[in-house]
Amino acid sequence: MEEAEHICVYSGSAHPELSLQIANYLGIGLGKVHLTHFPDGEYFVQFEENVRRADAFLIQPTCKPPNDNLMELLIMIDAARRASAARITAVLPYFGYARQDRKDKPRVPITAKLVANLITEAGADRIITMDLHSQQIQGFFDIPMDHLYARPVLIPHLKKLVGSDGVVVAPDSGSAKMAMSYGDLLEAGFAVVTKRRINATTVASSHLVGEVKDKICVITDDLTSTAGTLCAAAKILKANGAAKIYAAVSHCMLSESGKEKLLATPEIEQLVTTDAVPIVDDLGGRIKVISVAPLLGEAIRRIHEGKSVSSLFYIKH
Ligand code: R5P
Repeated sequence: MEEAEHICVYSGSAHPELSLQIANYLGIGLGKVHLTHFPDGEYFVQFEENVRRADAFLIQPTCKPPNDNLMELLIMIDAARRASAARITAVLPYFGYARQDRKDKPRVPITAKLVANLITEAGADRIITMDLHSQQIQGFFDIPMDHLYARPVLIPHLKKLVGSDGVVVAPDSGSAKMAMSYGDLLEAGFAVVTKRRINATTVASSHLVGEVKDKICVITDDLTSTAGTLCAAAKILKANGAAKIYAAVSHCMLSESGKEKLLATPEIEQLVTTDAVPIVDDLGGRIKVISVAPLLGEAIRRIHEGKSVSSLFYIKH
């Protein structure tokens, strides 16, 4: 790999607002790249400035529409590689397909691994991402990955909501570790709800383990889509006497039915989330969005300067 000379940040079309904020944080403009598609739907990418020997950061959350956003990212990586960028970092504030990370039924793919292979094969030298659905996905890559957490960004606001009487609730067993980490940072109790997914759009929560009566609860998760997981957990918390219920997710990817479900679930007073993916609706003021642009910008700066990124995992009180 050639030695990188200068830092360049380029945005895919998934979330230009976030990319611009990251570039602003870094005190540089967004790099010039032409993104378009042909009448038959194929994508076309052309860097409109010299990227030779650049330390190029390509920002693209692979959120909805995931296939288009992923393909555009792959083509951007390919174009940067062929234009002789010294180092290419794919920045995925949200890594789509992460939930398909294992064979849990016969004859199914491990699409998260396929996506990791595609990004690597396209020519990425390293990855920055945030709150992967499961930590093990890091091992799907054989290139360096910086895996960031939204928690340091969300905790100050959550602390104000829960005070000293909080309980952090995992809405399923898979999110227990994340919830415990939030619980430690908030100095709050811990509870877990058991979840059974009936199909892609319906979940049922059946049991609660932990004490939530008269407590301020925060349900934490990596993402919400149909809001089935959050709403089912909120119902069971309310039934068990929770005083107030909030939810905190790193990636808010609410579908239309998810918005309706949340609107019909007043038990959740506020959904706290980040701008890792575009937020299209604030649900009448019930969604609080906290930007991860400074977190991502600082990670990019440190990677460019060869400094440690791990100190970004800690919370400033
Ligand atoms: C699943 O294990 C994830 O961590 C989320 O709990 C889930 O994907 C949320 O999806 P939904 O909002 O559709 O229930």
